[in-house]
Amino acid sequence: MIRYAIVTASDKGSRGEREDKSAPVIRELMEKIDGKLISYEIVPDEETILEETLIKLCNGDRVDLILTTGGTGFAPRDVTPEATRAVCEKLVPGLGEAMRQKSLEVTPKAMLSRGIAGIRGKTLIVNLPGSPKAVRECLEVIMPALPHGIEILRGEASECAR
Ligand code: MTE
Repeated sequence: MIRYAIVTASDKGSRGEREDKSAPVIRELMEKIDGKLISYEIVPDEETILEETLIKLCNGDRVDLILTTGGTGFAPRDVTPEATRAVCEKLVPGLGEAMRQKSLEVTPKAMLSRGIAGIRGKTLIVNLPGSPKAVRECLEVIMPALPHGIEILRGEASECAR
């Protein structure tokens, strides 16, 4: 079982002015890899709030995985990757690389997402873009690798089975 959290970064969503259509896509896909949703929050695109939210989830709620959605683009208030970078001890470039590589087969706009992934303590944090379509396309790419990565992160996997 993967204990996970969803953090939606959206100014409008946090004010209740926009329905979050991306979180349901995450929930649907995570069910397929035995995900258990521990926390779901919509926060404004504020770097400090995002950092505090991520830290609280890693330290307090001890989730295995945090999936953020939104705030990865070029808009002045898009700061999700910066907040993620600030709280992570290690970066995991392969996840972002894989998502962008596969997404580029669907749309050239995939290169506009600056999303990253990293590790804080025993929690993996992955930035997904904001739209439900992009969330599905990106999460489907990394899903097959997540259970094993999280197993290693928890210290449970002794070997990488071939
Ligand atoms: N990735 C995939 N797979 N599919 C998409 O439709 N949209 C892109 C990109 N990544 C897209 C995608 C677009 S249009 C933008 S602007 C960036 O993600 C950033 O999105 P965000 O600011 O909502 O995080």
